[in-house]
Amino acid sequence: MRIVLGVGGGIAAYKAALLLRLFTEEGHEVTVVPTDAALRFVGAPTWEALSGRPVQTDVWSNITDVPHVRLGQEADLVVVAPTTADLLAKAAHGLAGDLLTNVLLTARCPVVLAPAMHTEMWEHAATRANVATLRERGVTVVEPASGRLTGADTGPGRLPEPEAIHAAALEALGGSPSADPARGPDLAGRTVLISTGGTREPLDPVRYLGNRSSGKQGLALAEAAAARGARVTLVAANLALPVPDGITVVPVQTALDLQAEMTARAASHDVVVMVAAVADFRPADYAESKIKKTHDPADPDAAPTIRLVRNPDVLAGLVAARGSSAAPLLVGFAAETGDATGSVLELGRQKLARKGCDLLVVNEVGTDKTFGADDTSVHVLTRDSEAVVEIGPASKLEVSHGIWDVVVGVSAAR
Ligand code: CTP
Repeated sequence: MRIVLGVGGGIAAYKAALLLRLFTEEGHEVTVVPTDAALRFVGAPTWEALSGRPVQTDVWSNITDVPHVRLGQEADLVVVAPTTADLLAKAAHGLAGDLLTNVLLTARCPVVLAPAMHTEMWEHAATRANVATLRERGVTVVEPASGRLTGADTGPGRLPEPEAIHAAALEALGGSPSADPARGPDLAGRTVLISTGGTREPLDPVRYLGNRSSGKQGLALAEAAAARGARVTLVAANLALPVPDGITVVPVQTALDLQAEMTARAASHDVVVMVAAVADFRPADYAESKIKKTHDPADPDAAPTIRLVRNPDVLAGLVAARGSSAAPLLVGFAAETGDATGSVLELGRQKLARKGCDLLVVNEVGTDKTFGADDTSVHVLTRDSEAVVEIGPASKLEVSHGIWDVVVGVSAAR
């Protein structure tokens, strides 16, 4: 898909760089059109390096290409982030003094404006009228977020997070975050259930046993599936990241909560993916009040012993509950380091056989290689074939698309 990313002159211009990455990682061709003022905040080399395409702001360069008409005409989507009060006014009144405003006048595709400005400017009658005019004409004007602005002041006017603008753009394209034209809506009509995050097993009212899973990989899988048309439910164990609109979130805390939610929902979904880092053990006893140190001078090092009991294996339980029916397709994840008994792939094969799921996505973890990181690489093993699909290194979103490519292929062959 061809996207024009307009960037207005505001401090939030740096956030547009993250939005740009979200679009390019999905394989879209993005031309960045900053205003002159935007280039005072983030320079052309940044936009050119991230988009892999030249950047221009005026209508006088590359004249033979007629960029002031062609860019807008050929775009499948125009997003402007941040949109300043000045840009909103120009767009509402059809002014065309630079390349970006020319693009806005010639575009026939969905246009999404993400405003960012001080609260007084956003609430000014002139801006309210401009926003109303633009919305009447079918332009999507995203509501700004509330929070800390450039100075010490706070209030509505902050640029929403890049993920939220991305979701609004997908919605403007398809009416719902359903169509990713780069891949095609090949999961349209499918229902997908994903667990993500890391469970926490409480010890007393203030302490728990947890793990370092950030939940990013499961969230990226959810976003990728939604972008390809799936209806997605995310069972999120202690997830601290924002989830785009259009994805149903079921928050959980412990392994037992997660098991209950996944077990109740699995049978009504086409694909179930267990990405969550589920604690294998939980404290055998929960102390109703905070566990205190003893202050016995005769035994200053006294410490309690915590007895653990096994948690259920949620994925193995889903495999057992499915029995001999074909659905849902069950996908497991495994973080492996390799050890004396086998390589990462050998241990992955053994785990696939032991769990009995259809696909196992294996990622190799070392020191701090995967937890919380943005880039990753995985090996995908399937039950019915010896072949290994290698994906990455790439962003978790791009890796997720690779995993869905395998799932789509395996489902078609069943
Ligand atoms: N899993 C699960 N329930 C558990 C533990 C893990 O459903 N109690 C799921 C994970 O969500 C993942 C897969 O099983 O999809 C593999 O997780 P992993 O921790 O690698 O597996 P374990 O069975 O715990 O393997 P081991 O401790 O032998 O490495």
